[in-house]
Amino acid sequence: MSPLLQGKRIDNWIGGARRAPVNGEYLESIDPSVGKAWIEIPNGDAQDVDAAVAAAKSAFAGSWREMAAMQRAALLRAVAVEIMKHAEELATIECRDNGKPIREAIPGDLPSVAEMMNYWGGQADKIHGSTVEISPLSHNFVRHEPLGVVGIIVPWNSPLAILGAKVGAALAAGNCVVLKPAEQAAASILTIAECFDAAGFPPGVVNVVSGLGEVVGDALVRHPEVRKIAMTGSTDTARVISERAAPTLKQLSFELGGKSPNIFFADADMEIAVAGASTNAIFTGGAGQTCVAGSRLLIHTSIYDELIEKITAHVAESVRLGNALDHSTSMGPIAFDRQYEKVKSYIELGQKEGAEVVFGGRFGPENFEGREDAAELAEGYFVSPTLFRGATNDMRVCREEIFGPVTCAIPFEDDDEALAIANDTNYGLACGVWTRDLKRAHRFIRDIQAGAVWINTYRRLHWAAPFGGFKESGYGRDSGLESLRGYQQTKTAWVDLA
Ligand code: NAI
Ligand code: MG
Repeated sequence: MSPLLQGKRIDNWIGGARRAPVNGEYLESIDPSVGKAWIEIPNGDAQDVDAAVAAAKSAFAGSWREMAAMQRAALLRAVAVEIMKHAEELATIECRDNGKPIREAIPGDLPSVAEMMNYWGGQADKIHGSTVEISPLSHNFVRHEPLGVVGIIVPWNSPLAILGAKVGAALAAGNCVVLKPAEQAAASILTIAECFDAAGFPPGVVNVVSGLGEVVGDALVRHPEVRKIAMTGSTDTARVISERAAPTLKQLSFELGGKSPNIFFADADMEIAVAGASTNAIFTGGAGQTCVAGSRLLIHTSIYDELIEKITAHVAESVRLGNALDHSTSMGPIAFDRQYEKVKSYIELGQKEGAEVVFGGRFGPENFEGREDAAELAEGYFVSPTLFRGATNDMRVCREEIFGPVTCAIPFEDDDEALAIANDTNYGLACGVWTRDLKRAHRFIRDIQAGAVWINTYRRLHWAAPFGGFKESGYGRDSGLESLRGYQQTKTAWVDLA
């Protein structure tokens, strides 16, 4: 088996082949564990997008649309096998590029991406329409047809997992896709394209064009032949995309940021709540760079000090910062320099706003004093897990998405106050509730304004369960049968029998 990634440069994937960007320009992709460039990716432009959309359009008309549904299903299952063949390599590429720890990606992300392809393979030959009984003199039936060419815009935090959810559904629905990976971590998506080829997908069904959001992403958003944009990323970029997609009336789905409340009541099981507040919710492998990060800890006043103390001990004991490719690393760096500066600035801001650092607030080399690998990691973008206490929900650190290992402990007195604070946010992605009281749990399930609610657990996601936001956390869903409809259009047929 030849390695998927050879050499120091990886090109776009268009029409079933590697293609250099027309303008000949490349960007350096940085390994954030050491702050050094490790591979070049295309800095493409609208010309590459045009070529990719043309390839996708021709694949759609030429083969994909004509193929039996069972065969599309078989191809999706075959790509799952190809992905698992290359799982370790794909994980290594992604972790090197974005700093996610390899010890999470190999047993976690990669098998999940393969399972997503299996799941969508299972759906691809179960696209059912319906008949509508209107009159014996008319046969009325409903078909769920693909849109044609779909543009998929992916961020840098979990590129392959996000690809799995969106591309799986788009292909199962019968579309061809053009992917735009993030300029900060494009290598894993550029690489995985070859798995689709090896599985036997016709050329042009899956294409990847790398470059800047404002250039390649923008060209995809404005392209008249692209019928839908599915994007994961920031709320601000989603607003820009919405405006620019308006002239061509594209369908849109957005999975955006969050400021998710993780709520701890006095009757919570403390044993599990401690990890649920910290290492499972925000001080995770991706260093809090996850849309569902539990970035607001709402804690009942009666257990406020106790829980904070226990979290402090647990984090000190269980979080090990380090190079993402080192199997002993449990939390990696921030993915790139601009994001690193953003996280640092919020840690300073929280202190200015009057919150108190319980632990953390250390950056870069400070985290590695006395360690053997200190010199190597000195240029990496590391931030240690950081907890603020004495935070109030009007502080900017409690309202704005930081997207790093930073969480704020906000005290509350009773259920009404907890719910009010939880919902007092522009976001609405996720919520955790820790209680043994069934009625209380159900009240929060009903009244929280968020697309996901976890009771006595946190950050549980599955390809079969719909996932997405309320309010400014987005619209449309990834995963689950519901997401399939987002990649289809409904046609009603009338056959006159009179
Ligand atoms: P972003 O939303 O700008 O980037 C996400 C994707 O959109 C990237 O592929 C980017 O190239 C593309 N993009 C950017 N501008 C575009 C445009 N005009 N047209 C089309 N595509 C465009 O997010 P960014 O700047 O990487 O991160 C900023 C913040 O966004 C983070 O600090 C975090 O708060 C949030 N974010 C949330 C994510 C999530 O999982 N929901 C993922 C990444 C970022
Ligand atoms: Mg990188």
